[in-house]
This record gives sequence, structure tokens and C-alpha cells, in this order.
Amino acid sequence: KGVNKMYVEGRMTVERANDYIQENREKVNPRYRPAFHVAPPVGWMNDPNGFIYYQGEYHLFYQFYPYNSQWGPMHWGHAKSKDLIHWEELPVALAPDEWYDKDGCFSGSAIEKDGRLYLMYTGHVVENDVVTQTQCIAVSDDGITFEKLASNPVIGVELLGDEGSIHDCRDPKVIQHDGRYYSVLATKTPDNRGKILLFASDDLIQWSFFSVLLEGTATQGVMWECPDLFHLDGKDVLIMSPIQIQRDAHEYHNTSSTMAWIGEMDWESGTFLVENSHEMDYGMDYYAPQTLLDEQGRRILIAWMQMWERTYPTHELGHNWTGEMCLPRELSINHNRLVQLPVSEIYDYLTDQQVVENIEVIKEPVSFPDVVTENVYLKIVADLSQAQKLTMAFAKKEHQSLFMTYDKETALFSFSRENFGYAITGIEKEQVHTREFPVALIHDQLTIEIFRDTNAIEIFVNGQETSTSTFYEIEASSELVFESQGKALITSFKSAQVN
Ligand code: FRU
Repeated sequence: KGVNKMYVEGRMTVERANDYIQENREKVNPRYRPAFHVAPPVGWMNDPNGFIYYQGEYHLFYQFYPYNSQWGPMHWGHAKSKDLIHWEELPVALAPDEWYDKDGCFSGSAIEKDGRLYLMYTGHVVENDVVTQTQCIAVSDDGITFEKLASNPVIGVELLGDEGSIHDCRDPKVIQHDGRYYSVLATKTPDNRGKILLFASDDLIQWSFFSVLLEGTATQGVMWECPDLFHLDGKDVLIMSPIQIQRDAHEYHNTSSTMAWIGEMDWESGTFLVENSHEMDYGMDYYAPQTLLDEQGRRILIAWMQMWERTYPTHELGHNWTGEMCLPRELSINHNRLVQLPVSEIYDYLTDQQVVENIEVIKEPVSFPDVVTENVYLKIVADLSQAQKLTMAFAKKEHQSLFMTYDKETALFSFSRENFGYAITGIEKEQVHTREFPVALIHDQLTIEIFRDTNAIEIFVNGQETSTSTFYEIEASSELVFESQGKALITSFKSAQVN
């Protein structure tokens, strides 16, 4: 992440960051800004951090560099919400202002103890090109201003020992189990395989090494970032973001991927017994997801809706911001797979709902010229018993379009942004512009929910799989065109505005 050569000079503090935001928020160009997704007030955003339900509200922190729309020394930005849809911006929570985090307050998590909010994060230090990553704690009484512990780092070189690499040791997710605290930590082996460690504590201050939770094989990625561990629907789930995991059929086509492991925790030995694993999202912009448990007992996930190793149009165009979060999603387990559905709150914000029934798509394309608005929700239910293929051209302008296709023979759903709008290219590797993934029809029926928010499209297919991507339309188009091979019957086509 050495791309940004334009770091600001001098000490970076929370006060300075807050002043800078106030003075520069007007410089953000609204063209591609999302309306109902969290985006930085100005500057760069990556991973969600410290996602927690705290004192009746949802708090979201995030990796943040206010001074530029490219990655730089990480701060923690902060927002809160009552409904997971409308977010209120709060002051910056952490800045890289101590010797142990001077080059960045990297990703981490939050936990409540005795009414106080604890953040556990990674202190990132670079000296003569050598990186050191240690784990640190900051505490708050009001959930807004944080004080870093005098005893930081709480997990340093000595505690890590030979269990991991001090150069790649980050993203602590702090959880509670049976009255003890555990920190789930990402690291790697000397031969570059992903490795997840558990550290244990009784008070969040004094930590000790507990176990190696899970270790990867040579093809499962060179580093596993941003782990999270939770219990859901009778299973234990470990999610993580592997770098350079090998492609496997339709999975793991991006350079950085996300992966869910379903199984069972052995808390005696601190190891994870794997029953299944799979990629979490089949889009192009989804990374570093993190979860919380709320008052209603829902396990809710949010992810960075962007990707590493890419060019960022809002940065290139000088729009002074980059990065945003996906819609919060409620998790469940189905057939040993992790399932994501939009949080139910979003449906309270749908207006102008319109439904068209029984649209037959046979030989001629069927066009809806005005349906694709900037903030649109679409729900399409299609009976494909007599069709081989159904294609949707979304935001179609002459030959350009985002394409979604379901092919019954291969049972693959595909999403493509190839040649669409402002180009997104790879920094290092050849870029992926199309993804396809298996989806089983339910009684020959395909149900697609689409949330489009200006530059983002989140597709939920048959309540089973998701595909999340950004795109940068040059000339706006509101046309949607259905085409089929054989006869497709769209039994219901709903559209609504998201407000
Ligand atoms: C994941 C990540 C984390 C790290 C952070 C730095 O996207 O690379 O591993 O803590 O971003 O911003």
C-alpha cells in the first residue's frame, strides 16, 4: 500500500484531521457519491472497523485517510446510526500520533466493557522499509473521544514470539466467550501461508497467547486479513480476507478475496474444525467484512465496497473521495454456507413502488426506458421453466450496459461491467470485469433483488448469493432491457426509489 506519495507533513492528530475535514468537505465532487451507503466526508476510506451495537446505536469506524483520496497513514473515521441506513458523521476517533502507531492505526474491532467502549487496533510502524505491527487499545467513556492506553502495545514482539510474523500481524477482532476475552489475529507463516491466532485476556489489558486457530495451505493465500469469529445458527463461522488465494472454478477471481469457513470451535484447544469454506461475494468490490451482534440477536455484516490493486475513478477524476461501505446485511447459515440478506430496515425506505406482472420475454427484447434511476431498488421474479437464458441490460446506452445473465444449462448467474463507463484498470494484475457463479433455481424460479446507489450495484440472487460491484457511468442511462432464449416469464417486476 505504498501508492500515496502525498502524505501530509508533520504530526497527524485527531484535532488536525477534524479541522481538515471541516475545511475541505466542500471539495468533494457529488457526481458518484452514494446516497444510502457510508462514504468518507473527504479523502480515502477502506475497511470497516469497530462495528458494534453500543448503547442503543450502531457504531461504525473505518480505515480513513482524510488528506487525500488515496491510501495514506490510517486514521479511524467514525459514524453512527439508529437504523443502519442513515448515518451520522462523528469526529475522527484515532490518529497515528504515537510511536507505536505512527504510520497508521490499522484495522481492528470494538467491544463494550463496564459501559466503556474499547477499540483494539493494529499499530503500524515503518522504519527503514521494515514494517512492525503490534496490537493496541484505546478506550472511551462517551463513545466519541478515545484515549490510547499508556501500556500500549498490548500485544508486541515478545508476546507474539514465533507464532507469527511481526511484519504481518494485524486486524484484531476482539470477542467474548465464556467470560473471557479473545483476540482473533491475522498473521502468516514464514513460507507465506495465512495463519489466524487467538490471544486471551481477562481484562482486555493483559494478554497471553492462546492458540493457533487455523493455518492455510500454500494455495489459500499469502496472508489472511481481517478475521472475524462468531457463532451463528448452531455453527461457528470464521470469515477472513485472503490475499492471492488461488482461483478455484468460479471462486476467488479477484486478487484479494473474502472467505467464510463454517465449522465448529474447539474452545479447549482453541482450534477451528472446518466443515466447509467458500467465497463470500461474487462481485468485484467487496472486501474486509466485519460483523456485529445487535440487541435483536441479529448477526450483521458490513464490508468495504471497493477492492485493492485497482485504479479508483473518484480519485483519478479529482473528486476528493474514494471508498464506501456495502449495505449492512443480516447473516444466516443455510446448507453450511453463509447467507447474506439486506437488513430489513432498508425496505422501510422504499418509495414510489411500482409492480408490473406477467411480462413475457420471447423473441423481442422488452425495454423499460425509465426504470434505472440513481437510487433504485428492483425485484425481479422470473419463471424460467421454458427459457434457456435470461439477460438484463442495466443502464443501457447503445452498446454499453451492465449485464446480468442467468444461463439455465450451466446454472450460472453472471454480472459484467466490461467496457462500461469510466475504465477501472488493475495496478498489477490483469483485471476482472465479469464474474459468474452457480445459483440453483427454486422450482424453475429466479429471484433477483438489486440495490443501485449511484456508483454501486448490489445483487442478491435467489436469497443465496450476492454480487457487489462499483461502476462509473459517463452518460446516465435509465433503460433496462430484458432478453431471453426461449420464453421467460417475469411474473413480477417491482421497482422503487430508495430514500
Ligand atoms: C485490509 C487491510 C488490513 C489493514 C488495513 C490497512 O484491507 O490491508 O489488513 O489493517 O487494510 O489500511
